[in-house]
Amino acid sequence: MKNILITGASGFIGSFLVEEGLKQGFEVYAGIRRSSSREYLPDPRIQFIEFDFSSHENVLKTLNECKIQQIRFQYIVHNAGVTKAQKKEDYYNVNCRNTKNFIEALIEAELVPEKFIFISSLAAYGPGNPVTGEPVRLSDEPKPIELYGKSKLEAERYITSLTGFPWLIFRPTGVYGPKEKDYFVFFQTINRGMEPYIGFRKQVLTFIYVRDLVRLIFLALDSPHRNKAWFVSDGRQYTSAEFAEITKKALGKKTIRFTVPLFMVKTIAVIGERVVGLWGGIPTLNTDKYNVLSSTNWRCEVDPLEKDFGFQAEYDLEKGVTETLAWYKQNKWI
Ligand SMILES: NC(=O)c1ccc[n+]([C@@H]2O[C@H](COP(=O)([O-])OP(=O)(O)OC[C@H]3O[C@@H](n4cnc5c(N)ncnc54)[C@H](OP(=O)(O)O)[C@@H]3O)[C@@H](O)[C@H]2O)c1
Repeated sequence: MKNILITGASGFIGSFLVEEGLKQGFEVYAGIRRSSSREYLPDPRIQFIEFDFSSHENVLKTLNECKIQQIRFQYIVHNAGVTKAQKKEDYYNVNCRNTKNFIEALIEAELVPEKFIFISSLAAYGPGNPVTGEPVRLSDEPKPIELYGKSKLEAERYITSLTGFPWLIFRPTGVYGPKEKDYFVFFQTINRGMEPYIGFRKQVLTFIYVRDLVRLIFLALDSPHRNKAWFVSDGRQYTSAEFAEITKKALGKKTIRFTVPLFMVKTIAVIGERVVGLWGGIPTLNTDKYNVLSSTNWRCEVDPLEKDFGFQAEYDLEKGVTETLAWYKQNKWI
């Protein structure tokens, strides 16, 4: 039986990866932390392994225990990561240092899998050119604009520097779907009858529905590709107004539309950062977030996905948002 280890299995994308692995007949090992919730991992076939990636010794100890039990991972999807953090150093520590600890321990324990998939992010490359509107391409020089993207890029640079290590890297744009908590705030705002915009410039957004993303990851496991990276989106582009329209239609809501000027958002971000920074924290609206919110071109090149995997997204935003909102309603989130 094929087997797979999925780290960050307790999270939004991780729980869908686990579900897909089971559906495809894999023996699935869910890599979690001792503190992780198992709420979205109810299937009795799931085998749990607790990792502490913050320490090389601890990861190595866990891997050596796996070896004693004759567990050898055929595939690994390293999906554990933080997209937002309470302290600046958390981005680097979780997304980069932990990834390094994990890979070094895999090599030392002689448990290098057939394929190691790293879930990076479009943020590692940053937004596309706002003037030309061209998508970010694989051949572009990465220009991350916030700590999150920088930490993913640093992890990528470590991974791609390895020789003889069978990595694949995926850089998804914004991922949405059931259980997701960030786009949910936007859906909730629309549901409450408000339609906020940040700045007056047109913003081009891209998305990938979580089920399409996990389908792609499993196609990649089955492919002959190694040591290659891809951006991931559904191949379409949407303005923020279109995103709002689709959401309003799916919710059957009318809204009051308003725009917060960019300078106001920046002022709040800078002041918040100074104040919360006194205690070593980062406010939800910070200068990094401002950089992301004020970027107007989030297109990325996805033709290689079709060429390399025959992948085409099954969900456009309307179909995905409708399914997502149905889940939120069913689960009484809205
Ligand atoms: N969501 C997006 O739009 C998006 C876009 C591009 C890339 N990604 C990447 O996709 C991956 C999954 O993101 P997500 O949206 O599913 O986020 P999520 O719901 O917050 O899940 C994150 C997962 O990582 C685990 N994790 C966090 N810190 C950890 C640590 N120090 N040690 C071990 N595990 C840790 C979490 O475990 P606990 O449950 O214990 O906290 C959780 O299982 C991340 O690598 C993220 O950067 C996400």
